[in-house]
Amino acid sequence: MVDVRTSTLVPLLVALVNATPGCGSDPPFPSDYETRYRETRLPCQISHDHELRYVRVFADDAAYQPYTTGVGAFPVGATLLKAEYDDPACSELLSYVLMVKLEPGVGPAEEHDWTWQRFDPDLTEVHDPRFIPTTCIDCHDYHCAAPPLGNDYTCTPGAPEPMPRP
Ligand code: HEC
Repeated sequence: MVDVRTSTLVPLLVALVNATPGCGSDPPFPSDYETRYRETRLPCQISHDHELRYVRVFADDAAYQPYTTGVGAFPVGATLLKAEYDDPACSELLSYVLMVKLEPGVGPAEEHDWTWQRFDPDLTEVHDPRFIPTTCIDCHDYHCAAPPLGNDYTCTPGAPEPMPRP
């Protein structure tokens, strides 16, 4: 006999765990991000962050509108994922960077209520306290802290480039 409670509970739990980024040893973002999230900049393109990497940027439903239009606040949990590649066809994956919007005041003030994380292609988190998250935040602050350059430290597609640093 099929136990109805178990058969309905297990998929629900799996869905909940998958929806919780960075939780314990769970994957930091869903492995089907290419279909579950929406791609925001097409096609594969060279990054503006001058590391000579090619990038694809994905937004979940909550992040899509404020990210692509540059207007409106990001709700808690809104997720932006950038996949970084070595080649102009975006086939040789080098790393990921991830930002998830936090409840106001949960993290340090200088992190602007975002998580700032880098991952290897196998989803191992890269911990390098010399650069992460300070270098991430420093560049996003300069590049896209607020309109017209960006929206809440995200680098809105199509936004103007900042003036070169003095
Ligand atoms: C030298 C500047 C620079 C540094 C350092 C940097 N970023 Fe970015 N980041 C950008 C720019 C510019 C974009 C817009 C997309 C592009 O052109 O690559 C971006 C895009 C992103 C995106 C996609 C959403 C968005 O804001 O456009 C995420 C997520 C992200 N970065 C996270 C990080 C994290 C995490 C780190 C540190 C581990 C980091 N970035 C370091 C400049 C930088």
